[in-house]
Amino acid sequence: MSDLANTYALITGATSGIGKATAYKFAANKVNLILCARRQERMEDIATDITSRFGVEVLIHVTDVRNKQEVEAFHAYVQSQNIVPSVLVNNAGLASGKDKLQAGSVDDWEQMIDTNIKGLLYVTRTFLPDMIAKNNGHVINIGSTAGHLVYPEGNVYNATKYAVKALNEGINLDLVGTNLRCCSIDPGACETEFSVVRFHGDESKAKKVYEGFEPLHPEDIADAIWYVCNAPKHVNITNMVVYPTAQRNVFVMDRKV
Ligand SMILES: NC(=O)c1ccc[n+]([C@@H]2O[C@H](COP(=O)([O-])OP(=O)(O)OC[C@H]3O[C@@H](n4cnc5c(N)ncnc54)[C@H](OP(=O)(O)O)[C@@H]3O)[C@@H](O)[C@H]2O)c1
Repeated sequence: MSDLANTYALITGATSGIGKATAYKFAANKVNLILCARRQERMEDIATDITSRFGVEVLIHVTDVRNKQEVEAFHAYVQSQNIVPSVLVNNAGLASGKDKLQAGSVDDWEQMIDTNIKGLLYVTRTFLPDMIAKNNGHVINIGSTAGHLVYPEGNVYNATKYAVKALNEGINLDLVGTNLRCCSIDPGACETEFSVVRFHGDESKAKKVYEGFEPLHPEDIADAIWYVCNAPKHVNITNMVVYPTAQRNVFVMDRKV
């Protein structure tokens, strides 16, 4: 049994895609969960299903990670239960729009910057001191291959994921002398609601992104997170880049269409 069994994993953005798959992966391995996202009903349904299937405890809190006060309320709730997470998965994030910078939407930019950078910072700043006080834990930041190479019309999304890469490195440095570990897991094309969100609900445009090849499934990234968190305590995997086999970087894709 994993050392993480009976501890708590906190996952942001757990109502869909990678966050949801990670919740199921950890629960199936007897890890209790602390979940947040904005969509309450979805989160309640997921919590009910996970509890009945795996018998673990699932705490949920409606939280928009862009909102500092909501993140603090989330933290206060977790503290009131005397819980300190053993794993913090900073997953909540999105791309919004795909335009040349000169035609971009400032609202899209703000949403990406506020969620992918500031949200990750608020959550980490709030929960990390408790984990450091216990001198135990793992921070997983979901970056992206978009944080390794800029692609046309990716501009601001790319910039936010480059920021996640820098923050992951910074957090690692700041944790020296503790037992805590920190890793960014950087997926390539993974079929979730990501592209539907990016294209503002345009399902047919979103579907085209994954046409002609087998993309990653969110469960593949959940497996990667589980692997990293279960490495021996003296092993700190600081970055893992995961592509579908058909994709070798953001430009090189074996698409059979
Ligand atoms: N899919 C890919 O190809 C891919 C590749 C590389 C990296 N990523 C990264 O992977 C992460 C997860 O994305 P995904 O692909 O799983 O997309 P997804 O299916 O759209 O899931 C995104 C999750 O984030 C939550 N979220 C969004 N904004 C939030 C906010 N302000 N506060 C709290 N929760 C918020 C959403 O829940 P609510 O709407 O209920 O709040 C949802 O649960 C993101 O950081 C994304 O950048 C994805």
